[in-house]
Amino acid sequence: MVSARRLTALVLAAVLISGCAPAAPLDPGASEPSSTAAPTAGVPWFAPRPGLSLDLVPGTHEVVRSDEVHRIFARWFAVPGHPEVERAQQAAVDASIDAFRGAPESAGHGGGTAPRELSIESELTGSSAEMLGIRSTTTTISGDATSKEYRTQWFDLNTGRMLETRELFADAQRWARFRDLVDIELLGLPEAGEKDVVAADSLQLLSLNFDASGDALVEFGEHVVAPGAVGDVVVKVPSTAVSALLGNLGKQAREAGMRPTGLPASKSRPLEPVDGSGTGSHVGDPDPGEVAEPDCRKVKCVALTFDDGPGPKTGQLLDVLKQAEALATFFVVGPNAQMRPKTLVRMLEEGHEIGNHTWHHRVLTSLAPEDMAREIGSTARAVKDATGVAPTLMRPPYGATNAKVKAVVDVPLILWDVDTLDWKVRNARQVVANAVRDTKPGSIVLMHDIHSSTIEAVPAILRKLGAQGFHFVTVSQLLASVGLTDGAVYARGPAPAKTPAKKPAKALTKS
Ligand code: NI
Repeated sequence: MVSARRLTALVLAAVLISGCAPAAPLDPGASEPSSTAAPTAGVPWFAPRPGLSLDLVPGTHEVVRSDEVHRIFARWFAVPGHPEVERAQQAAVDASIDAFRGAPESAGHGGGTAPRELSIESELTGSSAEMLGIRSTTTTISGDATSKEYRTQWFDLNTGRMLETRELFADAQRWARFRDLVDIELLGLPEAGEKDVVAADSLQLLSLNFDASGDALVEFGEHVVAPGAVGDVVVKVPSTAVSALLGNLGKQAREAGMRPTGLPASKSRPLEPVDGSGTGSHVGDPDPGEVAEPDCRKVKCVALTFDDGPGPKTGQLLDVLKQAEALATFFVVGPNAQMRPKTLVRMLEEGHEIGNHTWHHRVLTSLAPEDMAREIGSTARAVKDATGVAPTLMRPPYGATNAKVKAVVDVPLILWDVDTLDWKVRNARQVVANAVRDTKPGSIVLMHDIHSSTIEAVPAILRKLGAQGFHFVTVSQLLASVGLTDGAVYARGPAPAKTPAKKPAKALTKS
């Protein structure tokens, strides 16, 4: 069966322009999807083409789920007026998280539990009044094994339905023909023999996108269609071949990918309120830089830190901080920084500090040095593009660091000594209780400004710690008297020496 079909495929191959199946990095732990597009600023090396700007779909915002203990980070989109879009993505994320949690822990080489991590990133790949395409990359790491899965969900906005890939094709025959064309390209993979390649007709082709020329791009994660050494595979089926096979919905999807247009959302609202959440102009506000900085060796200081944002409610958090005259530090992830440049500008204007929390929120210790450098460099660039200033601090995702990471990171690494567990409890009262109970002079407090419950908790945290005499400072202010060294790790700052101190204040943790 297969070989007969393949024979046909091979004959057909002679009359087709060969597509593109680029080689991927050989180190499976370090591989990123191959790129068939020329690198552009932003997210060049992760996608067959860079994700589209979310500005095309007014009001769209990201939803982030994180689990600091199980090392899960998932990011998807909510589109106003189209709840089905978020629902379908969330269902896919839930399924991946369930599968990840349900998988047996594998033993590491040393006998201990092997490192595990799940990362799900989404991006917009097609947009029009009729059709929306959202592509997600799911990376699972278990011990030495890394696997990637690609999935593109196409949404018919007129009916609110998510389409299976086959529904983009005119009929069963044309769908079969398309899979034959994909097979031809797979057979042409330079690194794999025919026997190694899985026939595409046994696969669902979960990720189909269209580039600016209208060519179809079908993505496969490592090991899905070819041996691991081949890496991720992107198959291109030329525009002329695919356009004859698509049905009406498929043509709409192709158009949305080829020539993306904005979605006229009735409930349109700006992604970034012009001024955070609208407290008016900052003009005339005192410049925080002119206010004398507290000396954290003499007074009680605490550095509140917010990771993984900026999120949809970060503007509201900035309002709260401003009212309390409190400063904070934001460790931002690249995609969110790119989405909310004005929020970043406002942070700096109001005296806060911005740190780097990488692009994909991956466990850096399991990446090759060049991938680590890209994770950090791309986010630094996004912050600099938005504000003119590159971050001078970095927080490794999950606090995971080792000598390799320290060697690559060229700024100080900031951990924490107070974990509010806000990502887990999702309850403002509990977050307040944890923060207030554990904060000591010199503490660095870990929170996440992507959760509403955390934003709700901050006023009470400021009130209660403020009543105890704490000054709310940025991480750099907290550590100013110690001096920060690039590549060194800090988890807390100095505390004022108390005369009857039970434990002498330890200046800082540095390793
Ligand atoms: Ni984080």
